[in-house]
Amino acid sequence: MPRLKVPVVDDVEIASDALFPEASEIWLEIGFGGGEHLAGQAARHPDVGFIGCEPFIDGVAKLLTAIEEDGLSNIRLHDSDAREVIAALPYACLSRVFILFPDPWPKARHHKRRILQPEFLDALARILKSGARVRFATDVRSYADHALEVFLADPRYDWQVGRADDWRTPPSDHLTTRYESKRLGDIAPVWFDFSVKGGGQAAS
Ligand SMILES: C[S@@+](CC[C@H](N)C(=O)[O-])C[C@H]1O[C@@H](n2cnc3c(N)ncnc32)[C@H](O)[C@@H]1O
Repeated sequence: MPRLKVPVVDDVEIASDALFPEASEIWLEIGFGGGEHLAGQAARHPDVGFIGCEPFIDGVAKLLTAIEEDGLSNIRLHDSDAREVIAALPYACLSRVFILFPDPWPKARHHKRRILQPEFLDALARILKSGARVRFATDVRSYADHALEVFLADPRYDWQVGRADDWRTPPSDHLTTRYESKRLGDIAPVWFDFSVKGGGQAAS
């Protein structure tokens, strides 16, 4: 872990290029859980540098095992709140972000604890390149509604949708996550893919 940890220090910008000197792009996964999706994508895309954020220690340990067993050299980790990394990364450095099955906080009085909030998307937009892609997935109806409301209220996130199957069918490059396979939600999983317009720009 010390070798793979993203250096997050207050008021110090992360030198993302130095984290991945050879990478063609940098992708971020927020709340990777057991890390199955992150390890799978990293194996598929050895030219991409991956940053994974997850405060759940068992999940981090599981991913470290996969990194070692699979010989993955393109993953760096933050074993805490993803918002700390988002705040510390430089302007327009990311090409892709995954937010897959975030903690649903289903009770109405807990909705404000959901990671997806307008200020979260605002902070994320700063570090996204123009044309970057963001994938959000959930199996909780009220979170799906909440997510669309929040994303669509921000003109920088352009929903890539043409027909219902675009959100109902797992994207062709998706890898099933552990949480997803438990089917704990109240709807079948939905996937929302967004393309970012004018990445790195402040909200108007
Ligand atoms: C419901 S689980 C889903 C895990 C994984 N994405 C999957 O689909 O199997 C949500 C994960 O988000 C993590 N999480 C919660 N708040 C977070 C935050 N602020 N930053 C990063 N990860 C967070 C939790 O620890 C948990 O592992």
